[in-house]
Amino acid sequence: MLTITPLHPCLAAEVTGLDLVGGPNDQDFEAIRAAFDAYSVLVYRDQDITDVEQIRFTERFGPLEGTKVGTPGAGSPLAMISNLGPDREIVPPDHRQIINGRANGVWHADSSFKPVPAWASMLSGRIIARTGGNTEFASMRAAYKDLPEHLKTAVEGRIAIHHYAYGRDKLDLNLITDVERELLPPVRQALVLNRGSLGKSLYIGAHTARIEGMAEDQGSALIEELKAFATQRRYVYSHVWRPHDLVMWDNLAVVHRAMVYDDTREKRHMVRTTLAGWPTIPVS
Ligand code: OGA
Ligand code: MN
Repeated sequence: MLTITPLHPCLAAEVTGLDLVGGPNDQDFEAIRAAFDAYSVLVYRDQDITDVEQIRFTERFGPLEGTKVGTPGAGSPLAMISNLGPDREIVPPDHRQIINGRANGVWHADSSFKPVPAWASMLSGRIIARTGGNTEFASMRAAYKDLPEHLKTAVEGRIAIHHYAYGRDKLDLNLITDVERELLPPVRQALVLNRGSLGKSLYIGAHTARIEGMAEDQGSALIEELKAFATQRRYVYSHVWRPHDLVMWDNLAVVHRAMVYDDTREKRHMVRTTLAGWPTIPVS
């Protein structure tokens, strides 16, 4: 029997009794779909799945996004978040996969730098670190609800510019390639997402470069103030991985980050499938 157990007061629930490989029946799928809207993060334990099974389950929710250039899995529906090379050994310490793995340590929403950002991501823990390497999620919906009035006023109706190079350049100017720079130009996203009956949420993260119509320093100050408010511990669920966990999150309702682990000595290999979202700025 399918059961859904909340893991935190603001977000996240664990789903048990799911036959992911056989494919949930329509009734169970509807229950999962509703739980996903309600909790923003769903955890399914003990799902020893193949890439094909992961893709098939993800596709139940909608069309998948293709993996961007410069990420292992580019051009396919799979993204490998991994410190392993093709020989399954840990790559050298200065390898892009190590640095990009660390870049995931900054709060972000997946693909917010694309004109059509990601809706949901599903991450399968194929090999996990013995210690560290949690993934943390902060509820941008709960945070929006609690925003002080002056911040609610400041964000209302605003557009933010998201740019892949912005966050990466802050960490290491040599990290991104010319191809990534060329193919991933800045995009406009709503700063507040209105999901109707699901409520409103803040849409910010590592790729948020500036606020349209605000001076650079004023915009940065606002972004920093919002991030600091929205990622307070009371809004955060920290996921401790077990092998074969599958964790699914709504990028339009949470930000997430990877916590440190001994990435030059311990193997960690995660496989992500990503559901395509929709434009965040209403067409007027
Ligand atoms: C991702 C991501 C975090 C992690 O897959 O999009 O940010 O803990 N992963 O690996
Ligand atoms: Mn991510």
